[in-house]
Amino acid sequence: MSAQILSGKVFASQFKEEAKQEALSLKEKYNVTPGLAVIIVGSNPASKVYVANKHRTCEEIGIYSEVIEMPETTTKKELIAKIDELNNRQDIHGILVQLPLPEAIAKEEADILNAIMPIKDVDGFHPVNVGKLMTGQKDCMIPCTPHGCLKMLQAANINIDGAHAVIVGRSNIVGKPMAQLLLSQNATVTICHSHTHNLKEICQSADILVAAVGRPHFITADMIKPGATVIDVGINRIAPKKLVGDVDFDNAVEVAGAITPVPGGVGLLTIAMLMQNAITAAKLQLAK
Ligand code: GUN
Repeated sequence: MSAQILSGKVFASQFKEEAKQEALSLKEKYNVTPGLAVIIVGSNPASKVYVANKHRTCEEIGIYSEVIEMPETTTKKELIAKIDELNNRQDIHGILVQLPLPEAIAKEEADILNAIMPIKDVDGFHPVNVGKLMTGQKDCMIPCTPHGCLKMLQAANINIDGAHAVIVGRSNIVGKPMAQLLLSQNATVTICHSHTHNLKEICQSADILVAAVGRPHFITADMIKPGATVIDVGINRIAPKKLVGDVDFDNAVEVAGAITPVPGGVGLLTIAMLMQNAITAAKLQLAK
């Protein structure tokens, strides 16, 4: 039997609507418009598309959006000076530096991201926010993609409590925070990666399988327990106009109980959760 399709479009529009209502209420109660600044350094074509989507979605939700384009040759010092300027602006509640950074400053990524005030860190990448997530503190920014996945699982009434969640991928952006979020909901969590022994057997024991490896069709149907929920975080371009996930969807859909498609899945949730984080940042700053 074919799995239930968890449509990113449906859940993202629900999460964006929540953000829209919150933005309206901040305006009515406090006359505050949440403001988001997105810095893009250089001219990576995929990054340009992502940033344009973020800008358009802000306008749709009622969030003030400022896109700051900096040249490929920008130095770490210049970029941190721009971040400092935004840290000090009252009308900007959230700051995001689009990744990847150009090669010349890529190795400085940690220092650059650490320059964003934790309370304005809408990506949730700052060590203060990572630590708060790890210790279960409420006033923290949660990375958008894993947060969207968790909210989708909850909205779709997928049981997490006591479930075995297997995450394939250990990135700071998805794998690690996803593990923490599922653990906070009482899942038993296993993180797998390129050195994991018996990957297939571990995946076969997952009630919830999250694929975040960045390799097209890496998770095949025989790795999935019948009836499991499969979340595909991968977005892999295999031809100019062909995007596929980390899961072999066409075969996996016959085994899983519920599954996200690519495109039209998790990718849409990320922007929706960025909108929610911009609102959360504005609220935290208002409460200060
Ligand atoms: N590039 C691709 N995904 C992301 C993301 O979630 N945040 C940032 N800052 N850059 C990205």
